[in-house]
Amino acid sequence: MKKLSAGFKTRSFFRKPEFKTKPLRVVGINSGTSCDGLDSALVEFVPGNLPRLLFSKTYPYSPKVRETLLTAGDPGFKNGEYWMKFNSKLGKLMGEFASDFLSMAKKKRLTPHLMASHGHTIRHLPGKSGGSFTLQIGEPSQIASLTGLPVISDFRSSDIAAGGQGAPLSPLLHEKLFRSRTRFRAVVNIGGIANITVLPPEKSRKRPFAADCGPGNMVVDSAMKILYGRRYDMDGETALRGEADKKTVNRIMRMSFFKSPPPKSTGREQFGHGFLGKIFINCKGYRPEDIIATISEITIRAIADFISRYAPGIEEIYLCGGGAGNKYIVAGLNYILRGADIRSTSELGYDPDYIEAMLWAYLGYCFAAGIRVDSNRFTGAKKTYIPGKLCLP
Ligand SMILES: Nc1ncnc2c1ncn2[C@@H]1O[C@H](COP(=O)(O)OP(=O)(O)O)[C@@H](O)[C@H]1O
Ligand SMILES: [Mg+2]
Repeated sequence: MKKLSAGFKTRSFFRKPEFKTKPLRVVGINSGTSCDGLDSALVEFVPGNLPRLLFSKTYPYSPKVRETLLTAGDPGFKNGEYWMKFNSKLGKLMGEFASDFLSMAKKKRLTPHLMASHGHTIRHLPGKSGGSFTLQIGEPSQIASLTGLPVISDFRSSDIAAGGQGAPLSPLLHEKLFRSRTRFRAVVNIGGIANITVLPPEKSRKRPFAADCGPGNMVVDSAMKILYGRRYDMDGETALRGEADKKTVNRIMRMSFFKSPPPKSTGREQFGHGFLGKIFINCKGYRPEDIIATISEITIRAIADFISRYAPGIEEIYLCGGGAGNKYIVAGLNYILRGADIRSTSELGYDPDYIEAMLWAYLGYCFAAGIRVDSNRFTGAKKTYIPGKLCLP
């Protein structure tokens, strides 16, 4: 009986009209395609103000967890029972990380109201008009049970049910945080995949749009593992020592993905092992650093070509995601896109490593406050929707 009344209490917590007027603190957790770790961000939402990042931390995955994520997410891997078991295990691990994060927040006298988890994508198959499929694992019930907080999750499925492709969703937050009244801006997130949000100035009345533009760090990470036994190219040091093979880059840029117009999304299905194998064949006999430079150059070209084709005249580009720390990529973008100012989102007050985690916190906030999101111009969703679903502790 006691438990039941506690449940009712928690339930009535949602959709309360005061969440549209009172501050709400949400912990967003993100596990990206790079499989590097769990980004955790405590975000405060005060109606009428922009979201504020109060506290953040990344919990790196052990090599074993990382390997398991990579195996489970490989497009050729189709063992449903393995996914089912790993879903539960990963949920527990996320719950443990989140509990640690909550106790650290508590020491800073910060008390969150709820959690918002993206989970880890192991399959994302975009299709036309409602025919998209997506699967994120990391059981939210485990997270709720371990943290004692309500957990909102499975945001991409809400978008697909509304007729969208389920991705990209980050433009919903990019638009909110970074759109300017007068400046023509873009936000480029260089995670495992590189995605871009184009933000015409508000006064222009043109609509923002977004797309995945190609591989970000995912391919270079795999190549670093094979060629050097390292997890990633720290600061782009290896690429900076090498020389990109322009012929291979040009050949790759002829792939139909790069030519198709936005909106579009992609993942390991297109830029996984098979893609890396193709590059290794093209670069047979090359020095390892030249291969790393070639792969990094593909990321640069994927972003720069997209901007030249679909957003010419852009004035400011804000970078976020781990790849924003890759000096080879940043230098390459500066060289090709000379007309634009290229900066980190930190210059607008937002830590580039936590924008994605902030996004899930934002969507969790929308759920709690009953705010409908409109992702039509980003994912093709046919109607507005309240994002996510709820697990109570
Ligand atoms: N200092 C750095 N220099 C170069 N690359 C970096 C650096 N820091 C992080 N990265 C890259 O960023 C990746 C993590 O980026 P992240 O934004 O978390 O991507 P995802 O959302 O796909 O997990 C790492 O795997 C690594 O490739
Ligand atoms: Mg990551």
